Amino acid sequence: MKILVTGGTGYIGSHTVVELQQKGHEVIIVDNFSNSEKSVLSSIEKITGILPQFEEFDLVDETRTSDFFKRHNDIGGVIHFAAYKAVGESVEKPLIYYRNNINSLLNILEGMKANNIRNLVFSSSCTVYGQPDKLPVAEDSPIKPALSPYGNTKQIAEEIISDTLKTSDIRAIMLRYFNPIGAHETAHIGELPIGVPNNLIPFITQTAIGKREVLSVFGDDYNTPDGTAIRDYIHIVDLAKAHVVALDRMIENKSLSDGEIFNLGTGNGYSVLEVIKSFEKVSGEKLNYHIVKRRSGDIEKVWADTKFANMELGWKAEKSLDEMTLSAWKWEKELSAHDSNK
Ligand code: WQD
Repeated sequence: MKILVTGGTGYIGSHTVVELQQKGHEVIIVDNFSNSEKSVLSSIEKITGILPQFEEFDLVDETRTSDFFKRHNDIGGVIHFAAYKAVGESVEKPLIYYRNNINSLLNILEGMKANNIRNLVFSSSCTVYGQPDKLPVAEDSPIKPALSPYGNTKQIAEEIISDTLKTSDIRAIMLRYFNPIGAHETAHIGELPIGVPNNLIPFITQTAIGKREVLSVFGDDYNTPDGTAIRDYIHIVDLAKAHVVALDRMIENKSLSDGEIFNLGTGNGYSVLEVIKSFEKVSGEKLNYHIVKRRSGDIEKVWADTKFANMELGWKAEKSLDEMTLSAWKWEKELSAHDSNK
């Protein structure tokens, strides 16, 4: 079945395209390279032997998006990743985030309705929970007021999708990611942060490879065993596989309702210092870091209740933290070898 993957040259999108192709799905990617590189297409081909079909345009463009759907009326499902996702940037440029993340979703939903495409997998985030009152956090936990426009666009998107399901044949599975990290074992694809990384893992690997001077650990005065904040890190390949399972669940008409929500985490929380320790162990590198004050907007601790995804979706994250940090390190070394060949 031909599957549209929006944002398919991005970090999570590219890993999902690999898993889709390896499960026999035909993939067409739409991307505008606002946060990725066109070379990812050939990197995907290096892994799977199949160069994905591809069209470059901005999904915020209503005419271009509607025209795309008219020309591809054999699409059996959509996995919608395309969105801006930098929390800090969203605080500085809220209107850009609302226009990009919401308008692109509206155009996708209109296109699906107009062309009778039923199946949507949507990329959501655990940020919708804010700082949960109870841990582990389950899918029926209360949604807290968003701490950033980015997080708000995910909450609003979930509501837009839920309302659309009531008045159309569309059915959706919304996947709430915890902290996806690491890279494909081939090191042909991985996280490609543009500029100074916001996220922990690319900052760790760039510090270790010498691209950054020092890692700043944002606070060690949290109410956690070692004082640093805790997150549920999940290997990007485990996360990617869950998208194929979700898509196939709808194609095979196994959904319990037209709108399902699943947490994609491991159920284990690790602190920043535990992640650093794992990285130093697998890489053999001593990481240069120092403790600084907390980053505003950060929550203290979160990890997923994965029972519903494990039992109902029939999916479970398998890779360990060490496998995650090692794959991230291999990818960073690949990137730097590639840069030095330029
Ligand atoms: C992880 C931990 C930081 C950088 C965000 C979004 C989430 C998703 C992933 C899009 C925190 C600490 C980080 C650094 C540090 N994005 N840290 N020094 O903030 O949990 O989640 O990115 O979907 O939606 O909210 O991820 O990797 O930025 O931070 O100490 O240089 O590492 O304080 O405790 P986060 P992160």
